[in-house]
Amino acid sequence: MTEQKTWSQRFESTLHPAIARFNASIGFDIELIEYDLMGSVAHAKMLAHTGIISPEEGEQIVAGLEQIRQEYRDGQFNPGIDAEDIHFAVERRLTEIAGDVGKKLHTGRSRNDQVGTDTRLYLRDKIEQIRSRVREFQAVLLTIAEANVETLIPGYTHLQRAQPLSLAHHLLAYWEMLQRDWERLGEIYQRVNVSPLGCGALAGTTFPIDRHYAAQELKFTGVYANSLDGVSDRDFAIEFLCASSLIMVHLSRLSEEIILWASQEFSFVTLKDSCSTGSSIMPQKKNPDIPELVRGKTGRVFGHLQAMLVLMKGLPLAYNKDLQEDKEALFDSVNTVQACLEAMTILLQEGLEFKHERLAEAVAEDFSNATDVADYLAAKGVPFRDAYNLVGKVVRTSLAKGKLLKDLSLEEWQALHPAFEKDIYQAIAPAQVVSARNSYGGTGFNQVRQALEAARDRSL
Ligand code: ARG
Repeated sequence: MTEQKTWSQRFESTLHPAIARFNASIGFDIELIEYDLMGSVAHAKMLAHTGIISPEEGEQIVAGLEQIRQEYRDGQFNPGIDAEDIHFAVERRLTEIAGDVGKKLHTGRSRNDQVGTDTRLYLRDKIEQIRSRVREFQAVLLTIAEANVETLIPGYTHLQRAQPLSLAHHLLAYWEMLQRDWERLGEIYQRVNVSPLGCGALAGTTFPIDRHYAAQELKFTGVYANSLDGVSDRDFAIEFLCASSLIMVHLSRLSEEIILWASQEFSFVTLKDSCSTGSSIMPQKKNPDIPELVRGKTGRVFGHLQAMLVLMKGLPLAYNKDLQEDKEALFDSVNTVQACLEAMTILLQEGLEFKHERLAEAVAEDFSNATDVADYLAAKGVPFRDAYNLVGKVVRTSLAKGKLLKDLSLEEWQALHPAFEKDIYQAIAPAQVVSARNSYGGTGFNQVRQALEAARDRSL
């Protein structure tokens, strides 16, 4: 690359080398190159369309930009610190390729509206990719749920056994969270998909540009109505980081459950060799590194959200160099969310095996059917609160005798309350306990089957 000073002749000397390194963003904004080229192609076409440059000049610029794209894809375009950022790097190379006409590209544009355009184009793509990864993850959840409608799993509140559940119902709860994530990203996409190109440095431009033309070229659905807002708005990035943080919350909660389930204490799942790791010293160990890493990486994404909020809160209008700091936060969040979605999809798809026998034992070995005894009496006319108190007593005496509710004899039941009949045993069997919760949105098998069907429709 030719030695060339970036700035106008207002500057007499070049930057101190350490300051040049400090100032440069090329080390990370190279990630935007494809989007920067797209934006510049659209801008050049607009300049030609409006007669600001000639059609031939427009074509030469576009051809030069396409050559740079090819060079980049072939690994031939590797700008260094001296280029400062991706925008200068491209413009310089263009001028090397196309000559003086390359210097016309920046007419009616600033790096401020340019970088805003690039970031939005980048995020638009990434949101689509993340949404399809969310869909893939949801599809795996659905498949496992469909195979496990009648598999029971203890349900907890306060991490204390509460009421048994259909495993499918448990997994569908995550499906719903991810559904909201998918929808939320779709809504954010609408606000990302607005063009700041043509806002100039802050005030618009003296050239007769056509912002709508360039926006259409880039398939933006609209343009920023205020040039100051257009160059300094990063709300869309913050919204994206919020949505990413929520995805991470959901993945992290599931991760936490899987880690618990894989412990010897729970033993609800086995981790397959392809998705677990060993210990360097304890040969018996099989560790849930994947969900642990997902849980751990959640903090990074929250951190980026926080950083971005703090970055914005004190910025006077319009562009400030602080905004250069948005990129690493965004890139790392995008990469982290994608990697976590992919890893969790694989983990669920092939790394996790539910231990059906153990789950069946687990739901039969506790007092999580106690509510059902109270409901049984309430259905026979005993006021619920009285029934609740009576069952509390039953649980206490059973615990003292080392018995479960199912082990009480009919005489024992009837001594507690004359309303108990033989059908109490049926009423407190785990499958019945689950099946009976047939209220809308509940864990009853019929409800779960309907929810599965609805989820299939809602996935389309
Ligand atoms: N590298 C800069 C950024 O990422 C590009 C915009 C620079 N604009 C400026 N006026 N210095 O924000």
